Amino acid sequence: MKYYLTTPIYYTNAAPHIGHAYTTIVADTIKRMKRMQGYDVILTTGTDEHGQKIERAALAAGKTPQAYTDVIAEEFQRQWQILGLSVDRFQRTTSKSHAAVVQDLFRRCVERGHVYKGHYTGQYCVFDELYVNDAKPGDPCPECGRPTETITEENYFFRLASFQERLLALYEAQPDFILPETRRNEVLSFVKQGLQDLSISRTTLKWGIPVPEVQNHVFYVWFDALSTYMSAVEGENLWPADLHLIGKEIVRFHAIYWPAFLMAADLPLPKRIFAHGWLLFENDKMSKSRGNIVRATPIHKVLGTDALRYFLMREVVFGQDGSFSYDALVGRYNADLANGLGNLASRTLAMINQYREGKIPSSDGDQQIAHAMTESAALALGAFERFDFSKALEVIWNMIGVVDKYIVERAPWKLARAGEDESKLLDETLYTTAEALRIITALLIPVIPESAAKIWSQLGCKHSIDDVRTAELNWGHCRAGQALGSVIGVFPRADAKASIEKMRGLENEELVRQQALLGKAKPPEAKAAADGSSQITIDDFSKVDLRVGIVKSAEPIKGADKLLHLHVDIGEPQPRSIVAGIAVAYKPEELIGRKVVIVANLVPRKLRGVESQGMIVAASREGDIPVLASFLEDVPIGARLK
Ligand code: MSP
Repeated sequence: MKYYLTTPIYYTNAAPHIGHAYTTIVADTIKRMKRMQGYDVILTTGTDEHGQKIERAALAAGKTPQAYTDVIAEEFQRQWQILGLSVDRFQRTTSKSHAAVVQDLFRRCVERGHVYKGHYTGQYCVFDELYVNDAKPGDPCPECGRPTETITEENYFFRLASFQERLLALYEAQPDFILPETRRNEVLSFVKQGLQDLSISRTTLKWGIPVPEVQNHVFYVWFDALSTYMSAVEGENLWPADLHLIGKEIVRFHAIYWPAFLMAADLPLPKRIFAHGWLLFENDKMSKSRGNIVRATPIHKVLGTDALRYFLMREVVFGQDGSFSYDALVGRYNADLANGLGNLASRTLAMINQYREGKIPSSDGDQQIAHAMTESAALALGAFERFDFSKALEVIWNMIGVVDKYIVERAPWKLARAGEDESKLLDETLYTTAEALRIITALLIPVIPESAAKIWSQLGCKHSIDDVRTAELNWGHCRAGQALGSVIGVFPRADAKASIEKMRGLENEELVRQQALLGKAKPPEAKAAADGSSQITIDDFSKVDLRVGIVKSAEPIKGADKLLHLHVDIGEPQPRSIVAGIAVAYKPEELIGRKVVIVANLVPRKLRGVESQGMIVAASREGDIPVLASFLEDVPIGARLK
């Protein structure tokens, strides 16, 4: 039985971060879970490399689009390798095999009468690669708020409007086609309002897949990108996909356009689309402009990938937005992994080593615990099946709690001291904890595969965790006499402060490295102007806060004949204390009541023991006496120079 799942294919105008890692980690978790259920699972991810956004980013980096995307596509692949994600197909939209599938999809739509040639004049959002049909020139994009651009083009149009009824029938017939429910409702009400035909070709750019048999048209990026899900497994009898895993912002493309294209082409539809929420950083949206993007590899280096995987799956209710923070990550790691699971594993294995020479004793185990474990395992599996990962993990950690309590109650150390009399009970206790640990570990394989594999072999289980199936989640698979492997702590406790500092430091290094890949290593150096002075941008200039103020007091500073100490009112509750090197040009009494210009956002500093909270603007040639900047007309106090 096959199970084919996909992640979105990521744009190559940005380097991978924890948001991309989130979807891909979830996909890897589902893959491992489905494998445990006995499926042959294939996971596709890849990169979305065409379109205006990428073309512009490449241009800005001084590279050809192909050279630019080659580097970023490799960076995504490398990232998934480092994180140990078991990706089966990495499909790039620039690959030849892909182009053929896109063109074929188009031909099939044309042959069946779903495409016509027309003109589009309207607004387009380059960032989202989205036609904004109802917008007027200058309107922002409804998705991202960035300004839209007006474009006029001859296009091939897809008759999306004619698919309204068929789409609604699909959502009706398959209520779980779009999950979660909230996303389904959004899509439903969007489609019910009526759909407009969709332009699926562009003539204004070259960086795309050519529309067959015509000149100058390339495919609209979403027509191109969505086809990746098929092209990645072309000729392998894997289509349709069982699951498209996506973020909530691209649900419309997946739940409306994609099934409509496939219906038009008479091809099978994917079975399910699950749109998860956004991962926020300390409750804020991650964005380049906020500079709060977190990358996964520093976390991998300091705490291990499993710590990140566990955190994301436990802390974020899948389908809803969730927040990442280093504090919460380390907190969860120490409490749940080091103290919880890690502690249970090392205690259990150490006792078997100590009291039974490292061999699992013969026993059926405590039947009450056996019952509790199998019941909980079924609950956890049910939650996994619903993609309710946080619930599944909650159930598993309750199981850990039950075993911990059982150990305390049975007090095996006391049983060991009692010798022969309690030997049978000690056997039962040790068998029970080992077998419970085995079930807990097996349940955790999809979420923390690396650590689960370690505990698995420490328990002396011989077959690889890749071969573990759900049938082994029932009681009684540990064999009497099974010899433990060598026992090493799986989750050493982390010093919160030190590990957070380390992750933040590595994060900065990673940022610099990725920016270099994107061609942004060095900000473009200020170009020399014709007269040799350097140029700055308007943004640079706007960083300087120049204000009009009035001098309230002025005094000489002892021992400094060039300096005066002024108090300047710039409309704030208190006048600013400012030290100015103008004593050679102005007497203190001449300055009082005079309007001046000051730089109001300089970092304060002390001059001759007096704090200066700004700088007076004056003009002079080298060596000449300074002349204060002033105005011919009257200017209000606090006015800003722009
Ligand atoms: N190229 C399109 C997808 C085409 S699929 C045929 C695209 N690319 S993207 O690079 O912007 O990736 C978006 C996806 O990355 C999201 O849908 C989500 O899966 C993942 N995420 C990126 N940032 C994320 C968060 N901050 N939080 C959660 N997921 C995030 O859209």
